[in-house]
Amino acid sequence: MTAALKNDLLLRALMRQPVPRTPTWIMRQAGRYLPEYREVRAEAGDFMSLCRNPDLACEVTLQPLRRYDLDAAILFSDILTVPDAMGLGLYFVAGEGPKFRNPVRTANAIRNLRIPDVEKELSYVFEAMRTVRRELNGDVPLIGFAGSPFTVGTYMVEGGSSRSFSTIKGLAAEAPDVLDELMNTIANTTIEYLNAQIDAGAQAVQIFDTWGATLEPDDFRRFSLASMQKIIDGLTRERDGRKVPVILFTKGAGALLADLADTGCDALGVDWTTDLATAREFVGDKVALQGNLDPAVLRESPDTIRQGVAATLASFGTGPGHIFNLGHGITPDIDPDHLGVLIDAVKELSPAYHT
Ligand code: CP3
Repeated sequence: MTAALKNDLLLRALMRQPVPRTPTWIMRQAGRYLPEYREVRAEAGDFMSLCRNPDLACEVTLQPLRRYDLDAAILFSDILTVPDAMGLGLYFVAGEGPKFRNPVRTANAIRNLRIPDVEKELSYVFEAMRTVRRELNGDVPLIGFAGSPFTVGTYMVEGGSSRSFSTIKGLAAEAPDVLDELMNTIANTTIEYLNAQIDAGAQAVQIFDTWGATLEPDDFRRFSLASMQKIIDGLTRERDGRKVPVILFTKGAGALLADLADTGCDALGVDWTTDLATAREFVGDKVALQGNLDPAVLRESPDTIRQGVAATLASFGTGPGHIFNLGHGITPDIDPDHLGVLIDAVKELSPAYHT
């Protein structure tokens, strides 16, 4: 049996239900800015060995919750576990980010992609999830996640991180049907992957669409939005008598937030290039909003951080449906005490917006 949640503010805010204060979690809250994370990663050897070890993955998932009064945990893992399970051979080069030994660039390679046995090949993710749920003992909800098919597809096709996305944009222009097929294949596996995370204890899920908005709007709708829509339509939406909210985060979505709000998701992540007041105009009462302080603000003084928090809360304004977060992941150069200033400021300043 699952213990009742002691703090369900995140789930309530995602459903746009009233809360006494704005709940907070931080993208990449477990990571290199924390010395205790660097220690465990060194113990594991490398990043993927850390992801594959459920006890160590659980440990780093919980580290930020010991330091800060956060309202959610997010499983420590990566969006590229899915193509790794498809046989692309994920590895990391220090300072260069992720790489694939076997990128898929041609129609043939895309057609012949191996559909993985998700339960088996990604069992380390689900075991980590069950371990974290047990250790959390109902303190806060646990968030599961996956990448959007387009975002995951950029790494699969380019073979690693990219600035120009020239190979995948070439496919969009010259062989759109082939790219549709790749998006479908990734979407189908992602549905299984997220549903298995929900079975293993994820109480909300986020789809990270870091690169979708680098496409022109029509291509964004065809390749990124449509494949995320397919995933949402295939997800388990209720577990143990509770809704499992779905958050879509398209970085740099801007006016596309209006399209994203019609997918049937519960909440949208917003980055700092759109203020929350404008985002609210785009989405109306359809979905909750999550965000959106510029992670760069965490490099500044405590006073500047508090001002940034105050401005973010004021921009969303009063009423339910705001989850505080950064507009993208926290970076490795941040002083951990500065994140504490942010979290304390949300706690102190947000009740005024929930009367
Ligand atoms: O938010 C969390 O705390 C959960 C864990 C998480 C990680 N990656 C851990 C990680 C999540 C949700 C991700 C998502 C992810 N991974 C995205 C989408 C979100 C985003 O930030 O845009 C993308 C594009 C990836 C792919 C990826 N994984 C990249 C580009 C890198 C290298 C990044 C870098 O800064 O070097 C990774 C590795 C990675 N994933 C790290 C962490 C903590 C750094 C690993 C390390 O060196 O210890």
